[in-house]
Amino acid sequence: MIRVWDALLRSLHWLLAVAVLTAWFSGHLLEHWFAQVHHTAGYVAGAVVVVRVLWGFAGPRHARFASFVRGPRATAAYAREVAASREPRYLGHNPLGGWMVVALLVAVAAAVITGMLFISDWLWGYGWLADLHEALAWLLMVLVIGHWAGVAFTGLRHRENLVTSMFSGMKRAASERDVP
Ligand code: HEM
Ligand code: HEM
Repeated sequence: MIRVWDALLRSLHWLLAVAVLTAWFSGHLLEHWFAQVHHTAGYVAGAVVVVRVLWGFAGPRHARFASFVRGPRATAAYAREVAASREPRYLGHNPLGGWMVVALLVAVAAAVITGMLFISDWLWGYGWLADLHEALAWLLMVLVIGHWAGVAFTGLRHRENLVTSMFSGMKRAASERDVP
């Protein structure tokens, strides 16, 4: 077994997961003190995204965007391999997973920004902004469910538990066929 996910990346991941799910559920119960819970969870999620983006440039290999964000051709080629059940195992994020990471981070940032604008003096009470915030929250949930499906599918394909790896940071070392 070798270490793939560093401690900061893992901590950010689980903090983001808890914050986003808390923001999502409290968003539907906004009366009374839930509003405070909702705003706090949203700000925590926003802060995680900022730190994660910086870590994507400064962090170790598998945390870096440059190591897992691939161009459209490489991503499409990987998708075809998945369809033909002959895709290689990646130690870091695979090309489709890499784009899902980007989509999740962008969607969280957009939800946080629209939420903050909605309660700002400048744009307080604008209906279209509340609608946009709600739509982004739904988009985010669709992505999260896609994220779970991708994690489950990839784990089954390569017979490994990716969720426990996100806790321990450890994965089975790469064989010759794998992408290290
Ligand atoms: C609570 C259930 C969740 C589980 C079990 C889970 C599991 C995982 C796993 C296993 C990975 C690694 C994927 C890989 O091996 O390539 C991962 C990555 C990631 N997940 Fe989740 N996830 C959860 C919730 C969330 C939520 C709610 C978000 C919020 C948007 C999220 C955002 C991300 C991001 C951004 C990454 C990339 C990690 C990085 O490179 O920093 N996850 N997740
Ligand atoms: C991950 C980040 C966030 C998610 C997933 C999220 C999600 C949601 C959801 C699901 C709703 C309910 C929409 C509806 O059914 O009408 C909502 C409403 C709301 N959110 Fe957020 N939110 C986030 C961040 C924030 C932040 C950072 C703020 C402000 C600081 C905020 C302020 C609000 C407000 C004021 C409403 C009520 C809008 C209305 O009156 O319709 N949200 N949010």
